[in-house]
Amino acid sequence: MLLQVLGTAAGGGLPQWNCACPGCAGARAHPGRRRRHASLAVRAGPGRWYLVNATPDIGEQIEECPGLLPGPGADVRRSPLAGVLLTDAELDHTLGIARLREARDGVDVCATAPVLRAVRERLGLGAVLGPYTTVRWRELTGARTPLGEGAEVTVDAVPVSAKRPRYAADATGPAAEGDAWSVALRLRDTGTGATALYAPALAAWTDAFEDAAREADVVIVDGTFWDDEEPLRSGFSRTTATGMGHLPITGPGGTAHRLARLPGRCLYTHLNNTNPLGDPGAEQHKHLADQGLDVAAERMVIEL
Ligand code: MLT
Ligand code: MN
Ligand code: ZN
Repeated sequence: MLLQVLGTAAGGGLPQWNCACPGCAGARAHPGRRRRHASLAVRAGPGRWYLVNATPDIGEQIEECPGLLPGPGADVRRSPLAGVLLTDAELDHTLGIARLREARDGVDVCATAPVLRAVRERLGLGAVLGPYTTVRWRELTGARTPLGEGAEVTVDAVPVSAKRPRYAADATGPAAEGDAWSVALRLRDTGTGATALYAPALAAWTDAFEDAAREADVVIVDGTFWDDEEPLRSGFSRTTATGMGHLPITGPGGTAHRLARLPGRCLYTHLNNTNPLGDPGAEQHKHLADQGLDVAAERMVIEL
């Protein structure tokens, strides 16, 4: 299985357009610190790729992933991009879907039932994209679903939490769908059985997530905030990291000590611009390294 990390920042990116905090200013001064919105590309088979989440940076992210470039050949509008898999309905993970309106051969958008409803009906993408392209809306469940016919990769959703976007805060639906608002996606190579678990928004460390993480060869997980007080301290929020639906990296409820016990490789993604890890010289990188953990790098390729 071939994966490429296409971005590792939380909503807003690094730098964020309207922010001059130390993290954003540092990224302006040092372009090597820039991080695009969190996204991952996965190769489903020969010349056939999916994106995990469609960010506002999707056009640039496709340009930076050799597997996703159109061509070569006479059919100049043939794209290897078959579709998008969504972990949730948050704007930083879904706004890019609208940028795929040029898709000549249509595009799959795969997500759980409540996420599909939010994106189609609340964001209006069902009606808006109809006149431009064919979106094949596909429901993701806990069952392994091949990424196309004869695909070398399957995907299944591991429900994580009922955290829903603000634009859908009042959305209702079957109670059983609650935890399907935000999921970890498990990508599995059907040949080797290798698995990657991708969870850029982890509101709770559930037993189901623990089991999936324990089995995974690589876990790419929510690293939005270094500690629980970070959003309060930096003054941009009145809630803690946990209150915002992101378990912090450190502290009693943090993810680092749990990840450190897992057998697979663990990488953090979805870094907020307040996260000290945005500075490559920060001492916090050593704390992670001491536990065998790391931050995913922009454009890094992972082969499983
Ligand atoms: C999140 O990750 O919590 C969301 O992207 C926040 C938001 O953009 O409202
Ligand atoms: Mn986000
Ligand atoms: Zn900032």
